[in-house]
Amino acid sequence: MFLCVLYILTGAYTASPGIDVVRKQVAKYIEKRDAKYSDYENVFLSNGATDGVRAVMTLVNHSTTGKPPGVMIPIPQYPLFSALVQEYGMYQIDYFLDEENDWAIDVKELRRAIRESRKHCDPRMLVVINPGNPSGFVLSKKDIKDIIRFAYEESLFILADEVYQFNVYEDGLHFYSFKKILTEMGPPYNELELASFMSASKGFMGECGSRGGFCEIINLDPGVKKMFWKYISSHLCSSTIGQAMIYCITNPPHPNEPSYDKFMKEKTAILQSLKERANFVTKTFNSIKGLECKKVVGAMYAFPRIFIPQKVIEKAKGMGIEPDELYGLELLETVGVCIIPGNQFGQRPGTYHFRMTFLPQIDDVKIILQRINKFQKIFMEKYQ
Ligand SMILES: Cc1ncc(COP(=O)(O)O)c(C=O)c1O
Repeated sequence: MFLCVLYILTGAYTASPGIDVVRKQVAKYIEKRDAKYSDYENVFLSNGATDGVRAVMTLVNHSTTGKPPGVMIPIPQYPLFSALVQEYGMYQIDYFLDEENDWAIDVKELRRAIRESRKHCDPRMLVVINPGNPSGFVLSKKDIKDIIRFAYEESLFILADEVYQFNVYEDGLHFYSFKKILTEMGPPYNELELASFMSASKGFMGECGSRGGFCEIINLDPGVKKMFWKYISSHLCSSTIGQAMIYCITNPPHPNEPSYDKFMKEKTAILQSLKERANFVTKTFNSIKGLECKKVVGAMYAFPRIFIPQKVIEKAKGMGIEPDELYGLELLETVGVCIIPGNQFGQRPGTYHFRMTFLPQIDDVKIILQRINKFQKIFMEKYQ
């Protein structure tokens, strides 16, 4: 009934942070997910996670020391973050994910990155993507606690991109939200400023065109929160269809309802199939000479390392492009497979990767991997 009304009203503006009924539903969803209290007044709805991130990043975009504000970004990262840092004139502090350790976040590396950045900027925010795009990594409870302690020591605002929270494929591995862990840790950590993002675009839903997203933002100074809500109001409101979508995602069919069985069957089948594809992709990449892929346990991507011959590196240099871009171009021209070169996400200097999504159905994924295998042989013979 509520949904019918919502759909009829999609042509109208809504309250700027979103329709109260939907925000309250989001808070209920968070409470159920985390077993922790959530105040709907800390929730705002956005056009996908993107617009929420765009808004929240403005909160740290001011200088108190004369130096630009610094934002810590994982490398490799989803490029929204580097793009926004650049657009806002802030300073990007790269912290490298630990490929040797399945792309984990190493607190020693966070410390190195922040220490070296201080001469250039005033570090203000830490971005964490969990589960990781493009890394496919999922943080453990202990990882999250370590990161929260680090953020507390450095007085950083945590921006937790948690849009892949349904996409965890390893048995025994769970998605834990930063909000849950931070709340469990108690004082003083539960006073940290945190914004956590979710989206209609990922999970088993894939409703990316509806532009639905939400953000729960906690521990803002009341004066800052007031101004932030004013800022959100200047955007009028987020897509009403996206808001309706978020209502459905956060309030799926209940066990006693007619569509429950069908919903559960479809949801389970989609997530199970993604899990099979994640395993298949990891296994196949590791069987191809010259490629190495860490186990994909979350999100929707593999980010294999390519061991690129020296001749390719020199040729790419002569062409003024990155070696992994040359690899991608030749892959496209030779076998018609399009990937994104690792340099678009960032990678440790001297290492090369590409990102491939495993969203296509398994039969298509198999064809794609066969072609990459074929290409890899041709490529290695050509340049070795
Ligand atoms: C890590 C991550 N965050 C945010 C987004 C953007 O999602 P949305 O469609 O909700 O704006 C994406 C999209 O691929 C993503 O991978």
